[in-house]
Amino acid sequence: WPHYAPLIKAINVMKKERNAVVLAHNYMTPEIFHCVGDFRGDSLQLAREAANVDADVIVQAGVHFMAETSKLMNPNKTVLIPDLEAGCSLASSITAEDVRALREAYPGVPIVTYVNTSAAVKAECDICCTSSNAVKVVESLNAPRVLLIPDEYLAKYVATQTDVEIIAWKGRCEVHERFTANELEALRGDDPGVKIIAHPECPPDVINTADFTGSTAAMINWVKDHQPNKVILVTECSMSSNVAAEAPNVEFVRPCNLCPHMKRISLEKILDSLVYMQNEVTVDPEIAERARRAVERMVNLTN
Ligand code: 13P
Ligand code: SF4
Repeated sequence: WPHYAPLIKAINVMKKERNAVVLAHNYMTPEIFHCVGDFRGDSLQLAREAANVDADVIVQAGVHFMAETSKLMNPNKTVLIPDLEAGCSLASSITAEDVRALREAYPGVPIVTYVNTSAAVKAECDICCTSSNAVKVVESLNAPRVLLIPDEYLAKYVATQTDVEIIAWKGRCEVHERFTANELEALRGDDPGVKIIAHPECPPDVINTADFTGSTAAMINWVKDHQPNKVILVTECSMSSNVAAEAPNVEFVRPCNLCPHMKRISLEKILDSLVYMQNEVTVDPEIAERARRAVERMVNLTN
């Protein structure tokens, strides 16, 4: 990508000047993911990395809730997001007030929040989870019933993996909810060599069609370990491009859907955030303290 070269070079110079690191989610485009990301991974891996960052500045190449999580994990660092509008349909599906109403409606029932929520929502919950540890987190509570918010489909998937009764909210990921089992079956056709790997934010019929379901990092590991002839990664488009660079013998069959929020992040905006030290993400200290408890409880559990 020759036209990216000057931008990549400038970002790497600015990273040194600002003593900054870039945390890149698996959905970043390849030029960001491979060329300027210092740490790469799924939500859980990035939250853990954020806690260990020594540098002064964290640039979150991801969406807003991820930047908030980094701030919670390492409050003394300056956290920048290249585009403040990079949101998430799950995070915007529920408010702190909604969670308080759930507490009243279900007294005594623990509330697990998916990491794809605002810090204000996390502050009202007992513990956080990501797609890679949701079952483990739910079972750690030793409760017969658990509220798992806000992703309806993740909650449905977890319910199939545990005896704990799961009460769901009505949030959806606007990227994963669009996949259908029919389109995937049609693509697979009669070829058993085509493996379907799905993220748990997908609808239940898609997950039933899949050969494996897991977080973005688990999906990547599955492909590297199994080296299938052909694979459909039922998730955001950039994942296939990023894994393809590391699995040259695997053919990646699309469809994939783009996340408009993740795609707001570009090399240009990463450079601007470092040059102008702009788009800082902060969390009100009182909210941060309560939200941090929920995230740290998860991180300690799955260490
Ligand atoms: P992961 O935690 O699996 O990386 O998921 C994050 C996300 O936004 C999925 O849509
Ligand atoms: Fe949110 Fe879905 Fe985009 Fe992930 S892919 S950031 S869950 S809208």
